[in-house]
This record gives sequence, C-alpha cells and structure tokens, in this order.
Amino acid sequence: MSLAPTEKLTVKVAGYVAEAKDVVLLELRDVHDGVLPRFEPGAHIEMHLPNGLIRHYSLLNDSRETDRYVVAVGRAADGRGGSDYVHQRLAQGAQFQIGAPRNNFPLDPQAESYLFIAGGIGITPIMSMIRWCCANGRAWRLVYAARSRQRAALYEDIRLLGGANVHWHFDDERGGHLQAGDFVRDLGRGEQIYCCGPQPLMQAVQAACAGHHDGIAHFEWFSAPDTEARPAESGAFEIQLRRSGVSFMVPPDKSILEVLEENGFSIPFSCREGTCRTCETGVCSGTPEHFDYVLSAEERAAGKSMMVCVSRTSDPVLCLDL
Ligand code: FES
Repeated sequence: MSLAPTEKLTVKVAGYVAEAKDVVLLELRDVHDGVLPRFEPGAHIEMHLPNGLIRHYSLLNDSRETDRYVVAVGRAADGRGGSDYVHQRLAQGAQFQIGAPRNNFPLDPQAESYLFIAGGIGITPIMSMIRWCCANGRAWRLVYAARSRQRAALYEDIRLLGGANVHWHFDDERGGHLQAGDFVRDLGRGEQIYCCGPQPLMQAVQAACAGHHDGIAHFEWFSAPDTEARPAESGAFEIQLRRSGVSFMVPPDKSILEVLEENGFSIPFSCREGTCRTCETGVCSGTPEHFDYVLSAEERAAGKSMMVCVSRTSDPVLCLDL
C-alpha cells in the first residue's frame, strides 16, 4: 500500500504499554486491519493527535512489517503538550490520523559498518536501523546513554538483538554524562555514525567528527541546535502565492509561516523550527535560503521546496505553490 505525501490514514492504538520510566510504547494498526505503507529504517510518521496537535515519532519496529507501526513516546518535562497528551489521555482503542512514513534520517546501505550513538528517547529511530542490520547480517555497534537503567527504553529488545555490541552508559551508575566524542576516535574503516539524542550529546559527536570526511556522520535533530546559525535578520521580501493569486510582504522580524497565518492561511506545522518538515511548501520561482535541518544537500540545491517556518530568501520576490 502507498500513500501520497498529503494523504492521511486512520489508525487505532492496538497496544499501549509502559516501556520504561516516562516512556510508553504505542502499537498502531490500520483501523480496518489493512496493510500499512512500507517504511525505511530511520523513518518517522506524523501523528495528528485527537487534541489537534501534530507530532512526529520515529518508527522503531522492523521495517519489513506491514501490519503495524510501533513508536515510543518519552514524556517531555518541558514539552509543548504532545507527550503529555499521549501519556495522560491516549489509550488502547483510540483512533487518529497519521501521514505516510517519511525519512529524514536514511541509513546508507553501502556502509561497511555502523556506529549508532543514542541518548534517551533518541534510541527510537536507531532501533529500526539495528533491526535492519541484524536482518541483513551487517556489522553494527551501539553506544546508548540514559539517565538511569529504568529510563532506558527498549533495553531488553536491544539486549536480545545483540547486547555484546552495546556500550551501555547510565549516568547514575557512572557518575556523569557520556563522553560521546570518545567513541568517534576509533572509527573503523568505512564505518558510518548515526546519532540521535539530546543536543549536548549530538553536538559532542558533531565536534568529534570535525576531523573526519563529510558524510561520515548523520544526525536526527528533535529540536533545532542552539548554537547553529539561525535565520539571520534578513530583509523584507514579497511572497506571491501562485494558486491563490495573492501577494504579501514578509518583514524581517516575521517568518513566512507567520505572515501566511496572519492572512488566514492554514498551513500545517508542528515544530516551527525547521526540524519536522510538516510545513514544507513548494517553490515556483525565486531562490530560497534554507535554515531548516531536514532537507538534504541535493534538495537544498534543487530549491523546489522550503520550510516556511524558518527559511527565507534574499530575492525581492519568492513565488510559492499555495
Ligand atoms: S513546522 Fe516543522 S519544519 Fe516547519
């Protein structure tokens, strides 16, 4: 089964279990028990929660399965309501819509071997990658950090898949955080890094990769990195909406998304910081300046779409497919 990027599918919560402290596991199935669209290791789905929030969660089950999606949701103390809703209100039997699986964190199947570095709930996209490695006889190792053993989601699954390949790091047992950069120094020939977790961990791995060639490390950002270049104060520009036949000015202190909302356009969004791809909008003409964290280098160069929550242009006019 396949689903167009804009189509939605109604799923039901077929399983809801506590997986670790402050982490619940949801098993989602088609509401009519039909076949689900295929997904690749590292992919995520957009969940349109019954309370109106849109949230993205990585698929952690085996990517060969077509009858279910499994996601884990960690309770975010400083979250924006999505994880609270899932933890407090969602229950087995609930129904909601999801989008087709998308992958901003694809695994390179040609790598010689894989070093996975996960922190906390960042284990979720990596889980489907490990399952792929096991199914395809590929060499892998995992560095997995969590605040404590009770908070380590999927501990038992990982142990069964290959506990000997894992370096466990529990802050409370080791007396401090993981020094993630240490693991990057002894990379094997042809080994690639896939990293997901809290910002400090990912930034440490990024810094440690500085001496290695481009493309060796891959990151899945749950939130925009604090120290990355954010949309600079850029000048005002005009957006022309091709299908609607109207134009608006975008001032330096507002995003395209904000201007569209102020003018009555309902553009889907979730993160509003360039990490989720929900607000991706087609570009008809003009050159976007990309400030997101999801488009590939090829997609940026093509300039066919942009994240209107953060990206802008230096051109006087940008024409959008709206
Ligand atoms: S709303 Fe998430 S990338 Fe724009």
